Amino acid sequence: MKLPKRVTVCEVGTRDGFQIEPDFIATERKIEVVNRLSATGMPRIEVTSFVSPKAVPQLKDAEAVMAGIARRSGTRYSALVPNDKGAVRAVDAGVDDIHTVVSASESHNLANVNMTIAESLAKLESVVRRLVDLGAKGIGLADTTGMANPAQVSRVLEHLAPRFPNVEWTLHTHDTRAMAIPNILAAMEMGVSHLDASIGGLGGCPFAPGASGNVCTEDLVHCLDAMGIETGIDLDALIETSKRVQEIVGRVLPGQIVKAGKWTRRYPLPDGVRERIPARA
Ligand code: COA
Ligand code: ZN
Repeated sequence: MKLPKRVTVCEVGTRDGFQIEPDFIATERKIEVVNRLSATGMPRIEVTSFVSPKAVPQLKDAEAVMAGIARRSGTRYSALVPNDKGAVRAVDAGVDDIHTVVSASESHNLANVNMTIAESLAKLESVVRRLVDLGAKGIGLADTTGMANPAQVSRVLEHLAPRFPNVEWTLHTHDTRAMAIPNILAAMEMGVSHLDASIGGLGGCPFAPGASGNVCTEDLVHCLDAMGIETGIDLDALIETSKRVQEIVGRVLPGQIVKAGKWTRRYPLPDGVRERIPARA
């Protein structure tokens, strides 16, 4: 397997994760989570969305969250924006990067942002003046419904990557069908080194029925760490942050490493076993 030596993780839990939480998470708690994530050395955080508060009431405090967070110099803070109004709010709030969204299917685009794809592109044109041709630096391929498989991810990137050589590709995965990390490895083999993930595996799209959490950040960082791939993220601090997020949302999250411990974890031998281990020749 030929993989990049270093990858950049973008934490999306406070956006993709929190947006679907039914009970309002206090603004101070959201700020606390972003600050804890920054302190892990997370290079990128998608903090919130500047969307209609009617569409996503959980993120109606986007301005207050952006104003309240402590910004770390090595972290870029972004937000999701569906239209021109959102872009103006995001810029006023001081985000470093804007992430826009267009669905691959007309049906999801209509359900998500109440626009056809053409209408979305026209709206976003006024923001980034037309995706790649018009100035977008990166493209994130999002598997919102968790239906992609690794062979498909390779095929899609084989097709797209050579056509847009200067684009920074990000893979945005959901682990709905346990294919997120295999998909990420397939993308990394194709040279993708930017990955979205969400703390604890929080997440899901309110406008895609049955959608569940993103790939879990600490599980992904653990996997990369075990393979010797650098992320610049303090895994132990990330695991502690995930535990805190579980307290905040009041339930156990899908992440596995918080439950299992890292691969370096060792258990005591059962009684009477050590004495019976044969001496090595
Ligand atoms: N921020 C805040 N308010 C916004 C807004 C934005 N970015 N865009 C529109 N609004 C407000 C309008 O001012 C208007 O308010 P009013 O009813 O008080 O006059 C209302 O929302 C409706 O505006 P309209 O332009 O008709 O939008 P819409 O009802 O067709 O909804 C979106 C379109 C894009 C605003 C809405 O579908 C949305 O926010 N979707 C976000 C979806 C999302 O976050 N998905 C998950 C991530 S992929
Ligand atoms: Zn998503």
